[in-house]
Amino acid sequence: MNLLKSMSATLLGLVTLASTGALGSEGDVDYRHYSMEAIGGHMQAIVKILRQEVPHNEHLSLHANAIADMARIAPDLFPEGSQGREALPAIWEQPEDFAEHLDAFHSAAEAFKKAAASGDAATIGSAIGGLGQSCKGCHDSYREE
Ligand code: HEC
Repeated sequence: MNLLKSMSATLLGLVTLASTGALGSEGDVDYRHYSMEAIGGHMQAIVKILRQEVPHNEHLSLHANAIADMARIAPDLFPEGSQGREALPAIWEQPEDFAEHLDAFHSAAEAFKKAAASGDAATIGSAIGGLGQSCKGCHDSYREE
């Protein structure tokens, strides 16, 4: 069987599982967890690069672009009924305030993406601060300690 065929068979299997409800909100909670871990991984890689602990300056934009892409889909990570793990109920009780945190994250991620593309150290330095603040701003209010 070629790769594409076996991949689509696997996907079909997953879709079937989801439609029978076997994944349900546990799937949403796990998906959020893996996605946040991915964001966190890119962030830690960025810090290693900026501290010059690794010689990979040319990877900076890749990580910045990935976080900007993740920020764009971040609103999808918190569907109604996906309470659980460290996500506080306030997320669904104060949707307007929560949406502002999502927007702040999106703007900060776009700003960092631009800064990384510019290659200018001072711009990158201030943009990473803004990005870090946007993570912390949301975690302080909406993530269990
Ligand atoms: C709009 C809110 C919000 C923003 C912005 C945000 N996070 Fe999160 N993050 C959360 C919530 C809520 C959780 C807990 C999710 C859960 O337990 O289901 C979380 C969890 C995490 C986790 C732990 C993984 C897990 O699910 O246990 C990491 C790592 C993380 N975030 C990194 C980041 C980084 C890095 C940024 C910024 C680049 C960021 N987050 C931006 C809300 C946010």
